[in-house]
Amino acid sequence: MAQSPPDPSTCALDAFRYKIAERVAAALPPLTVDQVYSGVDYGKKGADFTIALPRFKLGKVEDVAAKVVAQFQPDEHIESITHDKAFLHFQCKSTTVIREILNQVHALTHEAPSPCYGSNTSGEGKKVIIEYSSPNIAKSFHVGHLRSTIIGGFLANLYKSCGWEVISMNYLGDWGTQFGLIATGFQKYGSQEELEKDPIKHLFEIYVKVNKDAEADPEVKAEAGRWFKRMEEGDESALKNWRVWRALSVKKYTEEYERLNIQFDVYTGESMVGKEWQDKALARLDEMGLIDDVEGAKIVNLEKWKMGKAVIRKRDGTSIYLTRDIGGAIERYEKYKFDKMIYVVSSQQDLHLSQFFKVLELMQFPWAASLQHVNYGLVQGMSTRKGTVVFLDQIIKEAAQVMHEQMQKNEDKYAAIEDPERVALEIGITGVKIQDMAAKRINNYTFNWDRMKSFEGDTGPYLQYAHVRLSSLSRKNPHLLPLPPPSQIDTTSLAESAHAREIVFLLGTYPDVVKVALKTHEPSGVVTYAMRLSHAISSAWEALAVKGEEDLDKARARLWMYESARDVLGAAMRLLSIRPLERM
Ligand code: ARG
Repeated sequence: MAQSPPDPSTCALDAFRYKIAERVAAALPPLTVDQVYSGVDYGKKGADFTIALPRFKLGKVEDVAAKVVAQFQPDEHIESITHDKAFLHFQCKSTTVIREILNQVHALTHEAPSPCYGSNTSGEGKKVIIEYSSPNIAKSFHVGHLRSTIIGGFLANLYKSCGWEVISMNYLGDWGTQFGLIATGFQKYGSQEELEKDPIKHLFEIYVKVNKDAEADPEVKAEAGRWFKRMEEGDESALKNWRVWRALSVKKYTEEYERLNIQFDVYTGESMVGKEWQDKALARLDEMGLIDDVEGAKIVNLEKWKMGKAVIRKRDGTSIYLTRDIGGAIERYEKYKFDKMIYVVSSQQDLHLSQFFKVLELMQFPWAASLQHVNYGLVQGMSTRKGTVVFLDQIIKEAAQVMHEQMQKNEDKYAAIEDPERVALEIGITGVKIQDMAAKRINNYTFNWDRMKSFEGDTGPYLQYAHVRLSSLSRKNPHLLPLPPPSQIDTTSLAESAHAREIVFLLGTYPDVVKVALKTHEPSGVVTYAMRLSHAISSAWEALAVKGEEDLDKARARLWMYESARDVLGAAMRLLSIRPLERM
């Protein structure tokens, strides 16, 4: 359904929808063009667009339809109308629709000042904070963090392409008693050399060892507790090592995220939430009479909303996860004055997120309504051949290796690849990302390395292959280059091919795919789109060959269409944080 006002300058198909709406409105007073426009859906049963008449409540649909059909005259935009039960189906004129879409893809990809076909300006002047990834230092990076990273990276790109100012934020789990424990363990097990080599791994190893010690010896635990208390009190001697650990971990993570094509504007963390904000929040809650004191612990009762009792401060006075989130949100609002803030966190934390959103709402912050939790289900079975996944770099390495082995199976092709290691890494990461984003976020799924590495089916390698094949066309047809400007390319031959029409129409729908994704926060729609487009292209290769086509006008028109398809497929892949390959 056309849900936003028409904007033919970013979506050529809006012009066609609008023409349809004009005609229908003219035949059916008192309906307005806008009313009809919002009811012009993508077509059913092979039509380009369809209108379901009952939504207008104008009486007997047969009569209503007959009126519209009787007045219909074909023109440059809309070629035909058919009536089927409660529906009116419309067909766009092929030559016009192909021409206008290809012109637009070309202009917005190659001529616009900030090129990107598919983007829009709906978020102009607005600011969104997107918090995602957020692993815990010294603990394992689990697949839940990977999902948050992948989905969050997508959302950041998506909001940017809809005109929003985006702040990508990583909220590290860098605070809590475990750091007292590691400090204690570091004296015994720490090595400066190991730390510098791989801080994430080394800190995790220490954590595992000292945890064991603590189980056997309560004194270790007590010492860790004392150490963390000193940290909370701001004792610089207790914080010194921790600062180094944090900095080294951030550095290492930044490199790994870079390999994933993910970038953060801000690395914050639980340690950075100002104590004053937590205290202020507590004071305000107290003033508003929202706090119960239960044996020294401070509690907000959320039973009324079926969210249990939220502990805001523990008996020993130390802060907790929830308090830091409440204080952190207030602090962020003061600092950034965001219009929206999104938390990309596993559905396992649904209760936590709804509790802290509710507390902020009860505190009557008007911006509390602009917080959004984007959640997702569990991933099962993501282990490497060496065992359980603990670190992000294990996942990246395994993906690259699995892909590398797969590519080596085809010796000839493998020998022709310029930089096989890099290509394997890129396709491997694409495979992981596509598998992760292929279904609705909330679904659990079982990770499968065999499926991920396959070049067949709706996989990452398939998508990369489709892009590479499109990219190779101009290299293989130098006799057609450079292509003349669009106005001098004769596209009439494309209108005669059902394949070409399907491909180009799909290109025309891309701006809507982006708009829908912004509403649903689902990457799966974009994945489905990229797959559909790739399938449509691969079934056209034979019928619409470029190489060997002797009619050069035809050959040029086809090449132009394929290049446009490459631009749009590339845009969709980049939106999904995938780096499209030119060769493999
Ligand atoms: N570090 C947390 C974890 O690994 C996730 C943080 C989610 N974000 C938040 N603001 N609570 O479970």
